Amino acid sequence: MTRTTLRGLTLALLIGASAPALTANAALAQAPTAAPSARPWLDAKLDADKRADLAVAAMTNDEKFTVIFGYFGADMKPKYTRHPDSLDASAGYVAGVPRLGIPGQWQTDAGVGVATQGARQDLRARTALPAGIATAATWNPELAQQGGAMIGKEARDSGFNVQLAGGVNLVREPRNGRNFEYGGEDPWLAGVMVAAQIRGIQSNKIISTIKHYALNAQETGRFVVSSNIGETAARTSDLLAFQFAIEQSDPHSVMCAYNRVNGTYACENDWLLNTVLKKDWGYKGYVMSDWGADHSSAKAANAGLDQESAGDAFDKQPFFAAPLKADLAAGRVSQARIDDMARRVLRALFASGAVDHPVPTPTSHDLPAATLAAHAKITQADAEEAIVLLKNDGDLLPLAKTAKTIAVIGAHADVGVLSGGGSSQVYPAGGRAVKGLEPATWPGPVIYYPSSPLKALQARYPNAKVVYDDGTDPARAAKLAAESELALVFADQWTTESVDAETLNLPKNQDATIDAVASANKKTVVVLITGGPVVMPWLDKVGAVVEAWYPGTAGGEAIARVLTGEVDASGRLPVTFPKSVADLPRPKLDGVGKAEGELFDVNYDIEGAAVGYKWYDLKKIEPLFPFGHGLSYGKFAYSGLTANAAGDKVTVSFDVKNVGARAGKDVPQVYVSPKAGGWEAPKRLAGFKKVSLAPGATQRVTLTVDPRLLATWDETARGWSIAAGQYDIALGSSSRSLVATAPVTLTSAKLPVSPNAR
Ligand code: BGC
Repeated sequence: MTRTTLRGLTLALLIGASAPALTANAALAQAPTAAPSARPWLDAKLDADKRADLAVAAMTNDEKFTVIFGYFGADMKPKYTRHPDSLDASAGYVAGVPRLGIPGQWQTDAGVGVATQGARQDLRARTALPAGIATAATWNPELAQQGGAMIGKEARDSGFNVQLAGGVNLVREPRNGRNFEYGGEDPWLAGVMVAAQIRGIQSNKIISTIKHYALNAQETGRFVVSSNIGETAARTSDLLAFQFAIEQSDPHSVMCAYNRVNGTYACENDWLLNTVLKKDWGYKGYVMSDWGADHSSAKAANAGLDQESAGDAFDKQPFFAAPLKADLAAGRVSQARIDDMARRVLRALFASGAVDHPVPTPTSHDLPAATLAAHAKITQADAEEAIVLLKNDGDLLPLAKTAKTIAVIGAHADVGVLSGGGSSQVYPAGGRAVKGLEPATWPGPVIYYPSSPLKALQARYPNAKVVYDDGTDPARAAKLAAESELALVFADQWTTESVDAETLNLPKNQDATIDAVASANKKTVVVLITGGPVVMPWLDKVGAVVEAWYPGTAGGEAIARVLTGEVDASGRLPVTFPKSVADLPRPKLDGVGKAEGELFDVNYDIEGAAVGYKWYDLKKIEPLFPFGHGLSYGKFAYSGLTANAAGDKVTVSFDVKNVGARAGKDVPQVYVSPKAGGWEAPKRLAGFKKVSLAPGATQRVTLTVDPRLLATWDETARGWSIAAGQYDIALGSSSRSLVATAPVTLTSAKLPVSPNAR
């Protein structure tokens, strides 16, 4: 494993840390009571900007420094001790200003639910959504929003008002250990899906982040790597994903990343923070550093960092405490900038609703069973729509109802489903399904959620023999498969924050098990539980393959429902599955073998903005499974494609008809290409729509294309530029299955960098 550590100490030391403290929020979370006239910033009728101005004007400098400095929230003795007012085993805490009615900030990870950190890992049982990449695979923003609303509610009910969610880094490197936290490889898909989740979280009157800003595309050397890329390529790829997501969800905070960008740390990168984010995009929220990502006081503050996270624990010094005060006294940072930093944090607290609707002080670490039961339905719906049916020869799936013997093999499918590791780890109700796995400490533990695919299948086949083998001995698994009508092989790959996968092959000899089982029984179905793409040397031998990702705390039930056809298979790939690492822009992962702390660069100009499918299109490389791919049990036909241009606005319409015999869901996708070329790649995803149709039903879909997806970045004009000419609008069921094309003619146009530019 290629490993970098942050919480690098062994967490084994941590067992038995201090008793839970449930009263943390009590002092500061009381609803503001003083009359608005005495504290006019508490008047909810005023807008957030006005309220922040008024509050900052009333603050002492010490109070301003209070709201821009964060503490760690977990005991990791002997190295770290949590702030006493933090919530136990949480990501962090920022003190409030009770005198002014400003609450503290209680921070929790992350994108799949309320995570728990440090020694007291199992103290908070919560609902976990499927991985971020899985939610992106639903191509269903309504589901993403519903999931966000659910985990945001669990955060609020748990006493947190800042959720460190919203991972939108593009998948540039399929071996990246954190791909599971993100929204795939396309700026529009990732932007739309992550925005929907953030809107859901913030609907609970709490703050969500969006992260990790920016170009944080691998874990190997994450604290030192420089992501090197030209401006045009960055603006049309990773930054565009952030831009879309920020515009569509208004996250109140942006978390800057660990890595450097073009040689400068992301959290002290004036171009990224001041120029692009705050000036060009007109961002009004605050920038918080990732845990250990701040490297300076005045330099970072002047570059646009507004709040230092866990500055007592992970950074070399508590930069935004005494060092920044000294900088202020010496004139290295201005009073106006300190005011702006505090103001941005306060604005977020007002705009989110966190001041007017203080989070409750939790009286128990547990959530009511009824809440968890209701939330299980939400995560299950997400998992069901996330599952991608990659291959289905001879309609092997849905599983025959008449089957009398079914072999279920591998991946602990008898007891549970795997989840992704690191700070985003949510601990499930019901405890861990598999005990004693390594690594037991950071970046572990490795956790299987107690939602058993085997049991869910057995419940659906009461009169059949549904038998489990653990898959560790390929010959034994093959014997069971040979004796069974159907063989289901579950194969998984644990990926985690701080470590990249070494290869795209499944670990632990699972390829051999699948191969042996498929040799013994043609009716072999492979169920993949992975954080991203894997290669499939056995693909030609198996009948069907589904990608279930990390499916969350109701994953076993969701998998069974898709395999048996109770629900349609309606996920689509948000990421290309390559045939081999040899096809990647960087077949060798940069930084492997470097000494810890040694600086190195990754050249992202190799692919530039041609990320994912764009690279494969540009280089004419056939992928294993293309972006957008996924089969349904239903059958859909597209017709009546029209595309119209009015100025820079392109509108696309078409009919989708369910021509099969069963109800189902489909995801028609629209791609756009300039006839004259000149883009980073032949085509871009320009729109999509998830439709749900009864047999025989037709839906007319109309989409408008964001004009930036028709444009290129103009470095001189510092804006977007649409070239006059003909463009093809193509409709299909994946990036490589386009069934109809309509031309549009565009006139040349110049667009500002953002509608909110300052
Ligand atoms: C991760 C962030 C996370 C933070 C707080 C860091 O290691 O990169 O994504 O929000 O820790 O736990």
